[in-house]
Amino acid sequence: MSKKDSKKKNFQLVKGMKDLMPEEQRYWNFVRQLVDKTAGAYGFERIDTPLLEATDLFVRGVGSTTDIVEKEMYSFVDQGGDKLSLRPEGTAGVARSYIEHGMLNRPQPVKLYYLGPMYRHENPQSGRFRQHYQFGFEVLGEADAVIDAQLILIAYKIYQAINLPVVIQVNSIGCAGCRPEYLIQLKDHLRKNKSKLSEISQERLNKNPLRILDSKEKEDSPIIAEAPQQIDFLCEGCKSHFIQVLEYLDELGIPYALNPSIVRGLDYYSKTTFEIWTAAEEESRQSALGGGGRYDGLVELLGGLDTPGIGFACGIERMIAQIKETDFKVPEQDKPDIFLAQLGAEARKKSLTLLEELVGANVKVAENFSKSGLKGQLEVADKLKVKFTLILGQKEIMDGTVLIRDMENGNQETVDCKKIVAEIQKRLAKSAVSEKK
Ligand code: HAM
Repeated sequence: MSKKDSKKKNFQLVKGMKDLMPEEQRYWNFVRQLVDKTAGAYGFERIDTPLLEATDLFVRGVGSTTDIVEKEMYSFVDQGGDKLSLRPEGTAGVARSYIEHGMLNRPQPVKLYYLGPMYRHENPQSGRFRQHYQFGFEVLGEADAVIDAQLILIAYKIYQAINLPVVIQVNSIGCAGCRPEYLIQLKDHLRKNKSKLSEISQERLNKNPLRILDSKEKEDSPIIAEAPQQIDFLCEGCKSHFIQVLEYLDELGIPYALNPSIVRGLDYYSKTTFEIWTAAEEESRQSALGGGGRYDGLVELLGGLDTPGIGFACGIERMIAQIKETDFKVPEQDKPDIFLAQLGAEARKKSLTLLEELVGANVKVAENFSKSGLKGQLEVADKLKVKFTLILGQKEIMDGTVLIRDMENGNQETVDCKKIVAEIQKRLAKSAVSEKK
């Protein structure tokens, strides 16, 4: 490429990344506010962990044989020789933070929530990005089944708030005590059918046989359908925990389905696992709105004391896609109340101070200082659908006045410059009252 050509190069988005454009922001604001409000109502405190963590945190926490760690992490060695990764998910970072900040010494359980970008080098497709945003809720330090049900309730209520019917897919994958026996039986069944399994499942057979249960390959489904189910192998503790969770869900009236394929793609889970699916479709896992479960061994695995934990996280892009598909109305973006038009150099100078006065009085003002003709400026004002335009020309400067134009009926009135802020506030308040009627 010649020097001249390289100057012309148009840079494009990195594959799987998205710009969140201004017109999208009202959806994002809405989701953020909904998550903040829900978290506050249930006593969760916000936590923000760094986007970059030690690669080993995820290798150990999420699991070295998971797709996320094996294939999807953005990892690199920094200038100081440290092995780092962009976080592919939020739970491992929260557990690290819990240990590092001695949160064990706070009143238990510790209830935390977060919202932010995650990075996975996956094949981009509908609802799947390499940078995606999640909101997540985590509870550390409580083993009781009532917390499992409360978290599922919170997830359910967030989708209820956008009128989206969802069905929670629930399962129990047992604990370190009862899972090994189940895995022996599962592997035995899968080995007997190895030749009929898809290539990818054959590869997983030794490394991570549980994941075969949520395979989407067609040839795997009859073998999965006949596979032994973890639920029949649960130890007494896991069984009674699961029954309690289901009883609480019944009590709360949350629609759920028992689904033995909810094994999740991360290794830290034990006992309860769940995903949030829309009720409209029997969805493929690919488009789950959210998912989570218990991770009673994670804190200890990362070097802390034996601490139970449970949480879930949801994809914000997927939630917004659902909002757009339904007729749920998200509040409009804040619009300017008035437009400030100016004619001539003196008027432009004066407009700058008038603008400051108006902004100081909480009036939302739009302007276009680069345009000098009145016609062009009124066109912009029209497009912005403001209620009033203030016009400041040579004559107004000389007289110490401003012209107010009512954009609905075109009526204009001259007002003393000193009284203009109060007058605009009065008119805006009046029009807000008549809009409400
Ligand atoms: P996850 O199921 O891997 O769980 O991700 C949670 C949610 O993030 C998914 O259900 C989906 O909505 C969204 N998501 C995941 N990957 C993508 C992607 N590439 N593009 C768009 N959206 C995506 C976790 O990450 C666990 N940390 C959840 C958890 C919290 N478990 C316990 N606490």
